[in-house]
Amino acid sequence: MKKRTIFPAIVLLSLFFFISPVRAEDSDNTPAGELLFKEKCSVCHKTTDQALVGPGLQGVMERRSEKWVDKWLQDPGGLLKSGDKTATELKKGFFRTMPTLPEMKDPVKRKAVIEYLKTLKQEG
Ligand code: HEC
Repeated sequence: MKKRTIFPAIVLLSLFFFISPVRAEDSDNTPAGELLFKEKCSVCHKTTDQALVGPGLQGVMERRSEKWVDKWLQDPGGLLKSGDKTATELKKGFFRTMPTLPEMKDPVKRKAVIEYLKTLKQEG
């Protein structure tokens, strides 16, 4: 590479690392799942046992299996339509159906949010 081309390449590369989302999360100590929750879920869910638009999520990973929550997050409406018993029961108590959030199509983000939900234990 000639000198002329190296400099823009370095600038581009450092810019890439600077704006990449992974880096942005690293610079803050808040785990990715908690950030996602605050951004995408907290409008409808509290982290206590109190309902908001949806149920309070304290202890949710104790009452539901990880497999179920993973399926639910991917497509709440679809799971409900499939006749899933838990989804049908849940629906009875709530006016709105949880929307399918585009972020939750990403298995990495689902896993991150689920890890955060695990920290919302019933006791303390
Ligand atoms: C627009 C409101 C809304 C948003 C945003 C939302 N939810 Fe929900 N959620 C609901 C409602 C309402 C229910 C109750 C079931 C139903 O009626 O669809 C629910 C149910 C749930 C349940 C099952 C709770 C239980 O007691 O079994 C989990 C888990 C859940 N949501 C997680 C999430 C996560 C994680 C996010 C963010 C990625 C999220 N929700 C975003 C409205 C929302």
